[in-house]
Amino acid sequence: MSKLIINGPKKLEGEIDLYGAKNAVLPIMAATVLNGGKNVIKNCPSLADVHSTFKILEDLGCTVDYKNRIAIIDSYGINDFCIKENLMREMRSSIIFLGAIIARCRKAVISYPGGCELGPRPIDLHLKAFKQLGVEIEESHGYISCKVDKIKPQNLHLFFPSVGATENIMLLSTISDGETIITNAAKEPEIVDLQNYLNSMGAKITGAGSEIISIKGVKELHDTEHSVMPDRIVASTYICATACCGGEIVLKNANSLHMQSILVLLREAGINAEQSGKNLNISCKKRLTSASAIKTMPYPGFPTDAQAITMSVFSKSIGTTVFVENMFENRFKHVEELIRMGADITVDGRVAVIKGVKNQLGASVNASDLRGGAALVIAGLGALGITEISNIHHIDRGYENIESEFSKLGADIYRISE
Ligand code: UD1
Repeated sequence: MSKLIINGPKKLEGEIDLYGAKNAVLPIMAATVLNGGKNVIKNCPSLADVHSTFKILEDLGCTVDYKNRIAIIDSYGINDFCIKENLMREMRSSIIFLGAIIARCRKAVISYPGGCELGPRPIDLHLKAFKQLGVEIEESHGYISCKVDKIKPQNLHLFFPSVGATENIMLLSTISDGETIITNAAKEPEIVDLQNYLNSMGAKITGAGSEIISIKGVKELHDTEHSVMPDRIVASTYICATACCGGEIVLKNANSLHMQSILVLLREAGINAEQSGKNLNISCKKRLTSASAIKTMPYPGFPTDAQAITMSVFSKSIGTTVFVENMFENRFKHVEELIRMGADITVDGRVAVIKGVKNQLGASVNASDLRGGAALVIAGLGALGITEISNIHHIDRGYENIESEFSKLGADIYRISE
């Protein structure tokens, strides 16, 4: 079992080159199933979730070659339509493969994704849309079996703009005979990246990034090459760390437009953030003030994935900040650990009230999920003394060597194996 050891506090200074976004590359990797050919994915981060996805692709019969953040995936030899239960459990977002496998093989079998660290992870919106598109679905003994003769393109309305459901519909209807239109689609930038990827292999999709997406079915797809968009949540993690510790950093290859809801809030609280070409310059010279209520929402609202990391910042600000978590019911597990470090936080259901304290002290804490773990890293970087974080496999799901990246910024952080 590995742990992260942090000796804080240190001001952060230096440059970080952002790598490709986890939430963009995972659906893109599912999309490689569709073309039955060669896919070159550049800026593909070396994350635990990406390596779990390679295993799924290899299990389905694809060949995968990965080095220097370039993945070459050939899906010509796909010979299976099932994702094994152990692989489904390793990465619950593998539900995103369902649409792609059905589209390629006309059938698919996966185990039910069940709950995860963030609470129940329903897939009713995915399955309802699939049924409308003509897929026959049978659910029994924890497995979902799907088959279809011919996709029936049509207009679909999502009752909630689910990211995964929007992506799954795009994947399922890319190769079809007619037009599928999604209304109330999720608008996340990662969906635009998936649209760009699919179009680069010959799909005809427009509207991603807005609430109406049109997928005009095509007969076949071809080989492709694509560079994955930078990770806005990883970028936000460095921004929050600088807000918590003070300092001055440059995020290279960052797009501030993808992070407006976070930047507007942190600017009001006292940081400086300026886009200059492809660089985003962040500086923080004083203790921040509290923010107005922060409510997580679908994009372009405040992202649930940035809730925990922002809470670490406001745990140390002047005044009181209220967080409302609207997206996932079990996403305050980091609170208990922040309290161990001296934070003053009370939780009632989906609401957390944070009274900022001037100093926090290092402690032994436990990462219970990916972004909650990143929040503990940020709190540890800003706290006085030694913080020891265990269960860091959660953090490795979405951050490439988080300790070496923060070391580059002058933090005293390292990994030990026990
Ligand atoms: C994606 C992101 C995740 C992020 C989330 C919300 C990936 C790989 N993961 O997850 O990091 O936190 O978006 O921005 O991109 N829901 C249903 N029924 C469904 C589907 C979803 O009720 O069929 C609910 C979920 O329980 C949740 C909300 O809708 O409350 C949002 O889920 P969704 O947008 O689907 O998130 P994911 O695609 O799973």
